[in-house]
Order: sequence, then C-alpha cells, then structure tokens
Amino acid sequence: MWLVVWLVVALSVSGSSGVCPCKQEDLCKPVQQQHEFEVFVFDVGGKEWQFYDWSMVTTVATFGKYDAELMCYAHSKGARVVLKGDVPLSDIVDAAKRKAWITEKVNLAKSQFMDGINLDIEQAVNESTPEYYALTALVNETADMFHREIPGSQVSFDVAWSPKCIDGRCYDYKAIADSCDLVFVMSYDEQSQIWGNCIATANAPLNQTLTGYNHYLEMKIDAKKLVMGVPWYGYDYVCLNLSEADVCTISKVPFRGAPCSDAAGKQIRYSYIMKQINSSMSGTLWDDRQQAPFYNYKDSKGNIHQVWYDDPQSIIQKAAYVKQNSLRGIGMWNGNCLDYSDDPVAQEQSAEMWRVLIQM
Ligand SMILES: *[C@@H]1O[C@H](CO)[C@@H](O)[C@H](O)[C@H]1NC(C)=O
Ligand SMILES: *[C@@H]1O[C@H](CO)[C@@H](O)[C@H](O)[C@H]1NC(C)=O
Ligand SMILES: *[C@@H]1O[C@H](CO)[C@@H](O)[C@H](O)[C@H]1NC(C)=O
Ligand SMILES: *[C@@H]1O[C@H](CO)[C@@H](O)[C@H](O)[C@H]1NC(C)=O
Ligand SMILES: *[C@@H]1O[C@H](CO)[C@@H](O)[C@H](O)[C@H]1NC(C)=O
Repeated sequence: MWLVVWLVVALSVSGSSGVCPCKQEDLCKPVQQQHEFEVFVFDVGGKEWQFYDWSMVTTVATFGKYDAELMCYAHSKGARVVLKGDVPLSDIVDAAKRKAWITEKVNLAKSQFMDGINLDIEQAVNESTPEYYALTALVNETADMFHREIPGSQVSFDVAWSPKCIDGRCYDYKAIADSCDLVFVMSYDEQSQIWGNCIATANAPLNQTLTGYNHYLEMKIDAKKLVMGVPWYGYDYVCLNLSEADVCTISKVPFRGAPCSDAAGKQIRYSYIMKQINSSMSGTLWDDRQQAPFYNYKDSKGNIHQVWYDDPQSIIQKAAYVKQNSLRGIGMWNGNCLDYSDDPVAQEQSAEMWRVLIQM
C-alpha cells in the first residue's frame, strides 16, 4: 500500500509520465499561439475562473492549488497556464543548486501540462551582491531551460511599480527584462513605503503608476516586455483621526526603512468593497490629485475607516497608457476579486471591470 502510494507520488512529479486529465488528449499540449496582446490573470484558487472573460484571457498564473480542470479549460481557449516560482535567493547563489531548482520546476510544469512559470521573487536585494547576480542568472537560466524543454512556454517575472529600489528590490531590471518573455509590473501596493505624512492614500495613484512605467521605459526596456498589473483590490485603513477634508491619519507601521506603510491597512477585494460602499458614511468620493475613488465608513465599534481602491474609472486611464505606449498587455491581482454571483448589479460591475482592461 505505502509502496503504491510512493510510486504514484514519484510518477506524478518526475516528468512527462503524467496521464492527461483533459477530455481530449490535445488539450494537454502546451499552447503554441503567440498573443500580440496579453491579458495576464493571477488566480489564487477556487472556481471563480469559470466566470473569467475568456474572450480576453491569454495567461493564467496559478497561485492556488493545482487545478487540472482550469488547465484543460484554459488550453481549450488558447490561454497559457503557468506555475508560480519563488525561492529564497540565498538558496540559489550556488549554480548547481540553481540548476536543480529550475529542473524541478520544469519537471513539475511538464507533469501538470503547464505552459511556463511566473517568477514571483519579491525579496530585497542590494546591487552587485551575490544574490543580485544569482537573481539575474536565475531568470536567464529559467527562460533557457523552459523554452528548450517546453516549446512555446512563457517565463515571466514580477517587478514592483517602479525600478527604483522599491522595498529594497535593487535588481538588474534591464537584464531580467531582456531574458524573460515578459515582466509583470505590479502597479499596486505603491504605499508600501510612506516617507511623508502617515495618511491613507490610493493603492495605485495614476501619476505615481505612470511614472513607474516611464522609468522602466527610460532604462530601454522594450515596451513589448511590459505588462501592466492593476489592482482588483483596495486598502481599508482605520483612521486615528479623520479631518473635515477627508484626511485619514493612520498608525505607524514601518516597512523596509520607511516609517509608515500600507501594512497599517487591510487588503480587501473589489467584490467586498462594492457590497460595503452603499452603507458607508460618505458613498463614493473621488480624489482628483490621485485619480482614485475612496470612501469612509464607521465600523460596529464606532471606529472610522477610509477605503481606497480602483474601479473602472481609475483603471480606464491606466489602460489608456498601455494602449498609447504599446505595452505588451495588461493584467490584474487577482482574477478572483470580483463578485461572480448571479446578482445582476454584481454581474454588471464585474463585466465592466473586465471590459475596461482593453482600450479599443
Ligand atoms: C542593503 O544595504 C543596506 C545598506 O548597507 C542594508 O541596510 C540592507 O540591510 C541591505 N539589504 C539587504 C537585503 O542585504
Ligand atoms: C542567457 O545568457 C546566455 C549567455 O549570455 C545567452 O546566450 C542567452 O541568450 C541568454 N538567454 C536568454 C533567454 O536571454
Ligand atoms: C506627474 O506629476 C508631475 C507633477 O505634477 C508632472 O510633472 C508629471 O509629468 C506627471 N507624470 C505623469 C506620468 O503624468
Ligand atoms: C482631527 O480632526 C479634527 C477634525 O477635522 C481636527 O480639528 C483636529 O485638529 C484633528 N486632530 C489631529 C490630532 O490631527
Ligand atoms: C448601490 O447604490 C447604487 C446607487 O443607488 C445602486 O445603483 C446599486 O445597485 C447599489 N449597489 C448594491 C450592491 O446594492
């Protein structure tokens, strides 16, 4: 019995020996189609993917549990499904260990009929350190091995909203972008390091967001490598004090050297925000400077909160930049954040969130 279990486990991780779980054998083949415009979706698990707008989706990065049904379905729509890749950089400074890690991921991808990997390494790194060079080599070697072993596969890398050492991430962005197929720019959590007043502000203010892309482009990173990531979630902050001008003072939670951060708030999904907003104190308010919506509400204990988020009105302006600058595409963290129930108001809100991603 134990031997049998061990054999099954061993077979399922050792490579191409896996049995195709799809109704048609063809659907287990890696996707070959090259999409000129990417709609890159992060999925965190669950079954919401059934309600995604599959007329748009080109890649799904699966950060939840492996779901063979999702893989088969995505393939039937010509969309890639990619693994999550994360490893402590100190573990892969050694070239042999790096190779072993990449080999393991390639084998996992093959056994699960996946189309590549999304490297989500958000660690702090200083320039010209062993970890700095190891990270650059990791991306190059991962791309080389995936492309060789799984023809048509895609290797992507997640970067912060700006290349300017955000959260201590001083990477060789140009070399990384050059060696992978695309870079997913996480244009959110932009208040992870608050250097000025400790007040609640937008997750992804328009000007700050676009400044980040300008910096990537100034480094001579090809626009066709850049996928803009927009947030389908917001931040709920408890206000220590809310001024008449709606300035919400937040508690001091330091992060990577900065005195305050968005860690003082709690991330909440767009679906939750849409349910809460009608019972809020303020209803939707709009900040002109940041081009972002927000609202204030009082909780059951009487504490006042301020919630900052993104909605079709704020996202459409970001999507316009994608189009104007011919970026590779757009995507979001994460696809699961919308309300996919059969409530007609929710359905319209969710459809609109998908619709604004692509500017005709
Ligand atoms: C980077 O260097 C700074 C200044 O020397 C140091 O405080 C920080 O801990 C270093 N970060 C890492 C990840 O090594
Ligand atoms: C990785 O680096 C090698 C050596 O510089 C280079 O020949 C190769 O094209 C690079 N691979 C990718 C995917 O950039
Ligand atoms: C951001 O705002 C500054 C100051 O108003 C302005 O100079 C700059 O052009 C803006 N950047 C973008 C990308 O819109
Ligand atoms: C708190 O907000 C009130 C109302 O706007 C204001 O009068 C007061 O000065 C604020 N207190 C602090 C400590 O900021
Ligand atoms: C919230 O209020 C707006 C405007 O009155 C309405 O159109 C919408 O259906 C309400 N949303 C929900 C979830 O009830």
